[in-house]
Amino acid sequence: MLKVIQVKDYDDMSEKACEMIIDRLKSLENPVLGLATGSTPEGLYQRIIEKYEQKEISFQNAMTFNLDEYVGLAKDDPNSYYYYMNEKLFKHIDIPKERIHLPNGTAADLEKECNDYEQLIHAQNHIDLQLLGLGVNGHIGFNEPGTPFSSRTSVVDLVESTINANSRFFDSIDDVPTQAISMGIKTIMESQEIILLASGDSKAEAIARLINGEVSEDFPASILKNHKRVTVIADEAALAKA
Ligand code: GLP
Repeated sequence: MLKVIQVKDYDDMSEKACEMIIDRLKSLENPVLGLATGSTPEGLYQRIIEKYEQKEISFQNAMTFNLDEYVGLAKDDPNSYYYYMNEKLFKHIDIPKERIHLPNGTAADLEKECNDYEQLIHAQNHIDLQLLGLGVNGHIGFNEPGTPFSSRTSVVDLVESTINANSRFFDSIDDVPTQAISMGIKTIMESQEIILLASGDSKAEAIARLINGEVSEDFPASILKNHKRVTVIADEAALAKA
């Protein structure tokens, strides 16, 4: 069952998501957060930083696991998700460095890296709250259409539409990595609670399919309908076709 919260625009989406996350952070002693990258959560992270600066929350006892990372991009590469997370959130808050987790896209043994990442998540029992964006093709994390719902953290090939969509961050489309490490769909589904954010008309088709379509591996986000606690926070433009 999806709970859908309609908000007016991007700012309202960020605000609503921030409220929910702060609420969970306050109620959990050792919150384990699953985090996402992309344009969608930037406003949310900005608000979280403000709440931290106002001393409303602390991240001393929090732990984070990001959904994905590009294969081949090092932590200090401005296009790596590690760099993004550090710039947009981590360097501004009090989370201890050793409690931050992202897959390492430059690991010598990528398969081992995936298994280790999966084990690390299991060692915490579960992710308390997983944040998700939505790919225009329905991907969650970097789990592209056709990915088995039983998937665990693995190295994945990015499809052309994803490479095109993400090329806006790179100097040239040829610089966009063609592979990533992504948390698996099964791993995502084991989170206690999930919040999916969507804003803007570029997400309208995907949101309509998520809300009205069948549960199918052709559309990875559709599996969320089988989760017991998912909230979709989407703005009017994203909900325009639903
Ligand atoms: C990217 C990321 C996803 C993200 C999605 C949407 O490729 N791997 O985790 O949620 O696509 O991105 P955006 O928020 O920029 O639209």
